Amino acid sequence: MADNKQDHLLEHSYDGIQEYDNPLPTWWKWVFYATILVVPIYLWDPMGIGVGPGKVKAYEEQMAAFNAAHPKSAGTYTDDQLVAFAKDPAKVEAGKVVFTSYCAACHRPDGGGMIGPNLTDDFWIHGGKPTDIMKTVVDGVLAKGMPNWGKVLKPDQIEGAVAYVQTLHGTNPPNPKEPQGVQAGADSAAAPAAAATTPPAK
Ligand code: HEC
Repeated sequence: MADNKQDHLLEHSYDGIQEYDNPLPTWWKWVFYATILVVPIYLWDPMGIGVGPGKVKAYEEQMAAFNAAHPKSAGTYTDDQLVAFAKDPAKVEAGKVVFTSYCAACHRPDGGGMIGPNLTDDFWIHGGKPTDIMKTVVDGVLAKGMPNWGKVLKPDQIEGAVAYVQTLHGTNPPNPKEPQGVQAGADSAAAPAAAATTPPAK
């Protein structure tokens, strides 16, 4: 540093420590000023350089569109809400269409079970409360061959399917698949849900 012609010792001294005035190279300063000129572009819209509402807004719009097209996570529904769906004839009817197209291949059109378990009995592998059913349908059980329908179907399709599954409870179709899982207790929300829409099984 001492050999730099521009360097000169500054006047002050603190505890005997002195410093050189060591200016930055001119090219370096111009690069620095240039970065300041670029700032407004970044403040406006980092990706779409100068056009559009900005990256954050674009992200929010994409997320809103995605959420509209895909089911909310299963956890955002309540049992009461899902029981209400099962009492709504339009929802159940739409659900039947979904069930016939997407679920019947494994669960049989009457829900009696085939590759997938019987959905009409009191026995559930993953719980028989409406919110349990919603969770199984949305997340699937990939290791066991139950697809994660949350990635495939729209929210209203899933709501319909879950509503329809609730109405299958207690329908006693012929030749059902043997019970799997644990029997739903009397306090299970599945029982009142199905009772609301189907005559009690004899
Ligand atoms: C490719 C076959 C297949 C299709 C299609 C399928 N499932 Fe399943 N499903 C299964 C299997 C296998 C299981 C059992 C998972 C396990 O053993 O953990 C299951 C489990 C379930 C359960 C949980 C049952 C319990 O005892 O806890 C529900 C509810 C269910 N399916 C609903 C549906 C609905 C609704 C659809 C249509 C949207 C559907 N499934 C489509 C194979 C399928």
